[in-house]
Amino acid sequence: MQIVKLGTMRHRSRELLTIYIAFVFLAPGIPGQLPGSWELLVPNAGIASMHTAVTYQGTVILLDRTDVGVSKIELANGVCRDNPEDKILTHDCTAHSVLYDPATNTIRPLTIFTDTWCSSGAFVTNGTMMQTGGDLDGIRKIRYFVPCPTDGTCDWVEATDQALQADRWYSTNQLLPDGRVIVVGGRNEFTVEFVPAAPGENKIWMPFLKETTNMEMDNLYPYVHLLPDGNLFIFANRDSILYDYKENAVLRKYPTIPGGPRNYPSAGSSVLLPLTADTGFSTAEVLICGGAQYGAFLNPPAQLPASDTCGRMTVTDTSPVWNMETMPFPRNMGDMILLPSRDVLIINGAQAGSQGFGLAWFPCFNPLLYQPKVIQGLRFMVLSPTTVARMYHSTANLLPDGRILLAGSNSHYFYTFDGDFPTELRLEAFSPEYLSPDLASLRPTIIGTPVFLFHNLDFTVTITSPSPLTDIVELNLISAPFTTHSYAQGQRLLQLSVLNPVPLGDNSYSITGSAPPNGNVAPAGYYMLFAVNQGVPSIAVWVQVRS
Ligand SMILES: *[C@@H]1O[C@H](CO)[C@@H](O)[C@H](O)[C@H]1NC(C)=O
Repeated sequence: MQIVKLGTMRHRSRELLTIYIAFVFLAPGIPGQLPGSWELLVPNAGIASMHTAVTYQGTVILLDRTDVGVSKIELANGVCRDNPEDKILTHDCTAHSVLYDPATNTIRPLTIFTDTWCSSGAFVTNGTMMQTGGDLDGIRKIRYFVPCPTDGTCDWVEATDQALQADRWYSTNQLLPDGRVIVVGGRNEFTVEFVPAAPGENKIWMPFLKETTNMEMDNLYPYVHLLPDGNLFIFANRDSILYDYKENAVLRKYPTIPGGPRNYPSAGSSVLLPLTADTGFSTAEVLICGGAQYGAFLNPPAQLPASDTCGRMTVTDTSPVWNMETMPFPRNMGDMILLPSRDVLIINGAQAGSQGFGLAWFPCFNPLLYQPKVIQGLRFMVLSPTTVARMYHSTANLLPDGRILLAGSNSHYFYTFDGDFPTELRLEAFSPEYLSPDLASLRPTIIGTPVFLFHNLDFTVTITSPSPLTDIVELNLISAPFTTHSYAQGQRLLQLSVLNPVPLGDNSYSITGSAPPNGNVAPAGYYMLFAVNQGVPSIAVWVQVRS
């Protein structure tokens, strides 16, 4: 009886699938003619990355849970982990984190022992990854990864003299202007805390997190954006607040977003749209796209179609409203990545179900480009499809060369390499159209830049261009986020104020830019600096923004 019922559901959903595919592939054109291109980078990264972050050394940290069983990569030097509490493997000699080097296309196993399942992270001011929480023995852990040059031996260090003040599973981290990190929420944890905590400073109760939970716990992995006025925009489920973390004060409540829930497990995503010197960095807009219907997590056999809406709100306005837009097709678990061209890439995910093991169907193979500056109605562009399903526990990260690195996808509790949506170990790259050879004549090359950009001070970048410049060249800074569960924690893009390029001869130019005014706009730390000519970016140079 049960099996028949499931079979019927599955059959019905295949029809749905056909409709979706027909729409996706027919509406925008024939695959292959769509903008963008795909490449397989690594056939076997050893792990399915649940959390991914690009370091200022150019390497990429890939990180999974530690209790998934045997991964496909051994730890180095005969190191093993013995954990009598492990669910499946009490003696484990395989790695659950690796370092990927895009320059050499190689993978190096890293050593991490406590459980990082659904943990969070942020790069701090000196470029070190501070990674927090997880499950079981990792639920209060604080871990550090100090990036090293690509031939180095840097590895995780799990702090033994420092711990979180609460159990944090599914929380969100944001680097603050004072160099500390705020860690927001977590499962059944309606508090925030600062790392490192000041002496005597305790975790802080946040009623908003309690108010936004429900049967599905749709308030997990809250969206946290540091606004240029120094307050935090915090969004959970369908609601959001402006939070003054210094005074522990909720300064305002924003309107409820139309549509279903947007956070874990309902799997939308969010970005702070590029902050620009054009408005004196005073205007901030938030974009939230996709998600699941309420009930998709609780009633998986229904395979409920995902949300096809995005909400955009100017959160610095006095009476802000959600301006709703409709995507060409529904998506949950879409990663939203800020591109150096100041567009937003929406990539990965599925068209029905929710986050969770085995709870999603109909992968979204086509990325979408969202162009914030284009008039409403024409902002979405459907891009060239991949063939690799990236659903639960998959990631997307911008690389300094402008490509997007795709990793992971594991819809299973343990690594499972057969059946529907097997554990995905392949790394791919998506090249947006701005990397197309047709546009090579516009692509600038940065040949000189300062190592440090000091808040509010001018600096000069030297570039070369294959053809004479006809326009202003943008200087855009992009932070490297900690990407997990379809949300890039700590992601921000700053479009700096620039002067006209000054020709130096031989298609070389110097460009004077102004560094971000303060730490609310750009917390001190490492950023990718892109020179962008008519939407075509250079390869980025890492610079450290300093106070
Ligand atoms: C960077 O900052 C972190 C966090 O404050 C600290 O633990 C680490 O030692 C620092 N690393 C270096 C290389 O200074």
